[in-house]
Amino acid sequence: MEPRAPLYAALAAGIAGDRALHGLLLHAPPEQRLPVLLFAAVHDLLLANPSHPLAQWYPNLTDHHRSPSDSALLATFAAFVDDHAPTITATLSSRSVQTNEVGRTGLLLPALALVANEFGELGLLDVGTSAGLTLFLDRYHFTYWTHGNKIADIGPASSVQVDVDVRGIGPIAEALPPIASRCGIDLHPIDVTDPSAARWLEACVWPDPAARAPRATPAPATIEASLRRLKALHDEGILTDDEYETKRKALADQL
Ligand SMILES: C[S@@+](CC[C@H](N)C(=O)[O-])C[C@H]1O[C@@H](n2cnc3c(N)ncnc32)[C@H](O)[C@@H]1O
Repeated sequence: MEPRAPLYAALAAGIAGDRALHGLLLHAPPEQRLPVLLFAAVHDLLLANPSHPLAQWYPNLTDHHRSPSDSALLATFAAFVDDHAPTITATLSSRSVQTNEVGRTGLLLPALALVANEFGELGLLDVGTSAGLTLFLDRYHFTYWTHGNKIADIGPASSVQVDVDVRGIGPIAEALPPIASRCGIDLHPIDVTDPSAARWLEACVWPDPAARAPRATPAPATIEASLRRLKALHDEGILTDDEYETKRKALADQL
């Protein structure tokens, strides 16, 4: 069977047989010695420098990517790691694998709507919130489908579109639940207005197209959602004019 992530499958097989490569993970704290951390550390550098030859294998970084079965892949990967060893080991020792998948809100919405129907306004507490994107589900647009037929359209017009394929029976929300407060807790909260932090979030997403497919937020939509959140923080007086302008510009430059 074709692996869901052919590039990472081919790299993992090669790295497993190369002690110098998999030994790099010893720079990470024990609980973070995960193959995906090494992949993300390399991907992060490639996102910053997509003209490197290794990027030719990454389907998200090139229009016509080289085959994962190309025998030059592992040598190019090893040379890249060698050239960037200090940066990669610093990343391995300081970063942790983090994602923020707004697609999960499609599953949370019906449950939250049930609770809101019974108790009224909700206070959201998201433990392991990453960049906090799932806390803002009331700003996303949801479409629920069954057998290709649309069964519900919920939420405001939004650049963040979440499509849900419903199988079996279960409650479908009729409207967004009212959200009175939101709070996110994380060991390493991600500030998406910081370009290097936002790039790390992207680096943790696998580059293979099939593995990326479940991700409902294209990067520009994520940035637009962050811009709206930033404006709300400024309107509420939480960010000063200067803080707002600096962060807004950093985000707008990524669009
Ligand atoms: C896979 S991400 C999920 C992010 C988000 N909840 C989502 O569904 O898209 C897991 C997050 O949990 C955080 N995390 C892991 N252990 C934690 C802990 N003990 N306390 C708080 N956050 C933690 C990580 O830093 C990471 O941001």
